[in-house]
Amino acid sequence: MALTPEALAALRQDYSQRGLLESELDADPIRQFQVWLAEAQAQGILEPNAMSLSTVDGHGQPWSRIVLLKKCDAAGFSFFTNYEGGKAQHIRGDSRVGLTFWWGALERQVNVVGTASMVAREESEAYFATRPIASQLGAWASRQSSLLSGRAELEACFAELEQRFRGKPIPCPPNWGGFVVKPSSIEFWQGRRSRLHDRLRCTATGGGWRVERLAP
Ligand SMILES: Cc1cc2nc3c(=O)[nH]c(=O)nc-3n(C[C@H](O)[C@H](O)[C@H](O)COP(=O)(O)O)c2cc1C
Repeated sequence: MALTPEALAALRQDYSQRGLLESELDADPIRQFQVWLAEAQAQGILEPNAMSLSTVDGHGQPWSRIVLLKKCDAAGFSFFTNYEGGKAQHIRGDSRVGLTFWWGALERQVNVVGTASMVAREESEAYFATRPIASQLGAWASRQSSLLSGRAELEACFAELEQRFRGKPIPCPPNWGGFVVKPSSIEFWQGRRSRLHDRLRCTATGGGWRVERLAP
């Protein structure tokens, strides 16, 4: 589809489902996030826990990609990945990251800014043990973000690992595990009519949260 003026006009949305008032926001933004995530799940949104993770490389170049949120509690927002891939290398150099969720069917966005750190090894191992066998083998097979000669290389590696681990428990690879993002700011965005969207930003104050309304 070409993004002609007519096509763009046909795509244009005016958001009208609901608003977000300061009085409606939970005093704990983590709890508020959990409510919105549950509502996204109840709505039947595909991968409601998918989030865009932004990191910065050693040259100051930002990069973004989707990862899946696996836990959200007082410690922060957790996801799992390869510890030697691109994003992990960025985080090692600069732990400041951004997370964005977009739930179109609910006309909602959540933006998180914070710092990422590795989760405890036991936690990564416990989560890895719950994954389907194919995903466990996939984690072993993929040297994430490295160059491949072709798809055959990846599939051969997977087949070899299938043989090696046949009938045996598959341990968590040493270079695979979780990161938890401790939020310094969480912004809740609710689409409204005429682009007059609601934006409430919760900023950590060291013990509590300051809530501010931002212009859309
Ligand atoms: C819906 C979706 C979910 C994904 N979930 C993850 C994930 O949880 N962890 C992960 O490492 N990559 C996940 N990926 C792949 C990443 O987007 C990315 O391609 C990969 O992590 C390599 O990124 P990097 O080279 O920047 O490290 C997911 C991709 C999509 C589209």
